[in-house]
Amino acid sequence: MVKIVLKNLDEKKLGNVAERLSECVKGNEIFLLIGDLGAGKTTFVKHFVASIDKSLKDEVNSPTFTIMNIYETESFNIYHIDLYRVKKFDLTDFLGNGVIFIEWPKEDEFTDIDYPLIKISFKIGDNLDKRNLEIDILNGEYITNCLKEER
Ligand SMILES: Nc1ncnc2c1ncn2[C@@H]1O[C@H](COP(=O)(O)OP(=O)(O)OP(=O)(O)O)[C@@H](O)[C@H]1O
Ligand SMILES: [Mg+2]
Repeated sequence: MVKIVLKNLDEKKLGNVAERLSECVKGNEIFLLIGDLGAGKTTFVKHFVASIDKSLKDEVNSPTFTIMNIYETESFNIYHIDLYRVKKFDLTDFLGNGVIFIEWPKEDEFTDIDYPLIKISFKIGDNLDKRNLEIDILNGEYITNCLKEER
């Protein structure tokens, strides 16, 4: 497992991280987004999706009530799931068939999953406009390598 720690990112920099990751995915990754209300989980997804297809940016919003939003891009679908009020959600149909983002995941359900797993924890930084991110990458060496590349 690889861990990346980033401190005091403003929203633009947080967006840059999302953008960078969007350039490294193949289309079967699972992102677990961990953090309190307003921590920046949905904002991260918005930047990620916009980086892949700018025209989808306005479609990205919190799936709190819909539970899942699907954003269709040219390369793969992006499944954006919010389990804040949901006890059980069957991922079978989506695993491996697109990039999955889960806000409020039940983390212990992902302990032995074969797909690349990127766990991101969001915390408030030194002030309310800053966020500290901890990114854990599992089964995703190509992502770590890609993030290291100059661009
Ligand atoms: N550095 C930052 N990074 C991300 N968001 C920031 C930052 N600074 C301020 N914000 C603001 O914080 C809010 C984050 O809200 P967001 O909906 O992304 O949170 P969330 O983690 O998805 O919450 P919820 O659990 O309610 O779904 C947005 O209004 C965003 O503009
Ligand atoms: Mg959200």
